[in-house]
Amino acid sequence: MSRSPVKAVIPAAGLGTRFLPATKALPKEMMPVVDKPAIQYVVEEAVDAGIDDILVIIGRNKNAISNHFDSVPELEVKLMEKGDERRLERVMASSDLADIHFVRQGEPKGLGHAVLRARAHVGDSSFAVLLGDDLIDERDVLLTTMIEAHERTGAAVIALMEVDPDSIHLYGAAVAEPTDEDQIVRVTGLVEKPAREEAPSNLAVIGRYVLPASVFDILERTEPGKGGEIQLTDALQELAADAAGPGVLGVVFGGRRYDTGDRVDYIKAIVQLATDRDDLGSELRPWLKEFAAGL
Ligand code: G1P
Repeated sequence: MSRSPVKAVIPAAGLGTRFLPATKALPKEMMPVVDKPAIQYVVEEAVDAGIDDILVIIGRNKNAISNHFDSVPELEVKLMEKGDERRLERVMASSDLADIHFVRQGEPKGLGHAVLRARAHVGDSSFAVLLGDDLIDERDVLLTTMIEAHERTGAAVIALMEVDPDSIHLYGAAVAEPTDEDQIVRVTGLVEKPAREEAPSNLAVIGRYVLPASVFDILERTEPGKGGEIQLTDALQELAADAAGPGVLGVVFGGRRYDTGDRVDYIKAIVQLATDRDDLGSELRPWLKEFAAGL
């Protein structure tokens, strides 16, 4: 068994009901964040952490996702003829990023079920899971720290972030103890989407995981949990409770995370990322100030 994750899994089979009707024919992972689909940020994050074999778990409307990562020779020729090198570079970058594979989930039975669909592709190696609703700013390091912690210890490593107690019902919540290392905690318990009054903490699981292949055996026997779905959180709770194994560690992230799964947060993510960009920020910032002053 290899401890170094060489593959990443991106579950992208959700129905995107919060964005209907935009997601009627378009997978939510293809919604643009400024000028790139959300899923491209996530693929780039995996590549930046040294992973270039990526398995996307897809549902319906898979074509838009696979087409996006294919090259489009006629578009490239057009841009070349026009001498539009900047756009040509951006178009080509999305098809040269990584080795991208697809598998279908079939039925939407939950995140744990989606991850289990990766078993044949991942085999005996450790692997990373990246959820497309959470975007991590490329200027902040998270996945690399998680991979290093996993390589050192063999533990499953999850990303955690402190959230407002009023929002904890939207996340997996962790019970955690400090370790000798700054930023890294030992996770002793996990609950999927607890009510505020039942939450063990306000430490929320955000969508990054580095997992040992042994999680597949656990997922095979994990019963449907919250919402009648097979929950990854429940399988991780079993790993956390196994005193004989390396357990679960959490990396507490204090950097910039954008939630594109919720409509208001999605709009905030676009504004934040666009104002920071060299090519758009200088025009957008003064307009935003003026706009906000008039509110
Ligand atoms: C999933 C997980 C949850 C986690 C969240 C992070 O929930 O089940 O534990 O906190 O992602 O975004 P979802 O948001 O897919 O319902």
